[in-house]
Amino acid sequence: MKKAFIGVYGCQMNVSDAERMEGQLGTIGYERTEAMGEADLILLNTCCVRETAEDKVYGKIGEIKHIKERNPNLIFGITGCMAQKEGEKLIRRAPHIDFVLGTNKVHELVHVVKGIQAERGHVVDVSIGETELPEGMPVTRGGKFSAWVPIMYGCNNFCTYCIVPYVRGRERSRLPEDVVREVEEAVGKGYKEITLLGQNVNSYGKDHGKADFAELLSRVDAVPGIQRVRFMTSHPKDLSDRVIEAIRDGKHICEHIHLPVQHGTNRILKAMNRVYTVEKYRDLARKIRENLPEASITTDIIVGFPGETEEDFHAMLDFIKEIRYDSAYTFLYSRRSGTPAATMENQVDEACKKRRLSELMDVQNGISREINEALRGKTVEVMVEGASKNDDEIWTGRTRTNKIVLWRHGAEAPGDFVQVRITQPQTWVLKGEIQ
Ligand code: SAH
Ligand code: SF4
Ligand code: F3S
Repeated sequence: MKKAFIGVYGCQMNVSDAERMEGQLGTIGYERTEAMGEADLILLNTCCVRETAEDKVYGKIGEIKHIKERNPNLIFGITGCMAQKEGEKLIRRAPHIDFVLGTNKVHELVHVVKGIQAERGHVVDVSIGETELPEGMPVTRGGKFSAWVPIMYGCNNFCTYCIVPYVRGRERSRLPEDVVREVEEAVGKGYKEITLLGQNVNSYGKDHGKADFAELLSRVDAVPGIQRVRFMTSHPKDLSDRVIEAIRDGKHICEHIHLPVQHGTNRILKAMNRVYTVEKYRDLARKIRENLPEASITTDIIVGFPGETEEDFHAMLDFIKEIRYDSAYTFLYSRRSGTPAATMENQVDEACKKRRLSELMDVQNGISREINEALRGKTVEVMVEGASKNDDEIWTGRTRTNKIVLWRHGAEAPGDFVQVRITQPQTWVLKGEIQ
């Protein structure tokens, strides 16, 4: 077997794409290695959502230059969102890259690699016009019990800060029967938890009209043997009552909604083109809590969007305190050329952004801790993942609400469902005792 190193950056969609790349490479004799130095093929599946993501990849590209000098037969390709965005510029900047394959070309990987094996040379394919979705691609899943299943590709929302619609193309939903078939296959192989993926899962099916997201959720929930259904990401603008009801009425659909708010003032939300108002978001959060009292709500927040004043920032903090998220991913606004926000006036300076970010994190950490504190003494259902990173005796898993739980290992095995009594809730994790 030849060896392939696949470096994955960015979101779950990239993780899922990489699993399909690995699946395809398996058909032409490559197995995955974690050691870049011993690889015959190196793929970097990249992200460009923020500048920091791109910087990491440029660092890696530099490192790989030395490996390629030692091993000229090495094949080195860039895939994913940066590949889509930069195209052949990447090869001009770093000629040791053999190929650049865009986000719509995942299914061309075998063809491209074989071409380079036969006759060395550079290949760039970042055309994005394709509407036909490749089905039935082989997939080598990273997890043993949790599987990612993409339900739609692309994004139509064009939030003014965001590069994703430019590098992932327009929204295209898979047919419901294709999604259900992939879920059934995964469950048949022992997967217990399925996460449905899309940049905005609530607009699933708007293009083909065969099923909406609520219906898809219910159909996936009904797959025999499935234990947990998760989904991400939900755009607040079209999280419908039907979806909330489907979660409430489903048996296996986990009570966790990742509902990125991005900001907490109408002025900035409007400038971001998020389409909802704080009033509408507040209403939505209330509806979720009424119908799903156990649900956790998590979010993404950007600080330092162009024009954000101290007053806007404090109004946002107040909104965060009002909604009370279980946890939040918080980001410094990063200027992405080609997006409308990149050329807006009143860019916020870095020092100010950083101060605001740390203030926001303090506020959010306090809230996360308080919410978790309320779980002290309670018993929760956990799907066992395995030993934690630092200690073989301490095992980890997640609640239905997607909180990480740690406990001292007994007789349980990965993939088991166990009851854990929470004894030491913390900001990021819940420590407990297995029952
Ligand atoms: N489709 C998803 C997430 C896409 S990217 C959604 O709409 O929720 C993940 C997160 O990165 C976004 O929610 C946003 O908070 C953040 N993000 C996107 N572009 C950014 C930028 N230019 N600067 C900082 N954060 C950004
Ligand atoms: Fe980006 Fe907005 Fe689309 Fe999410 S919904 S991927 S933030 S444009
Ligand atoms: Fe990054 Fe592309 Fe995902 S830009 S966040 S990997 S869709």
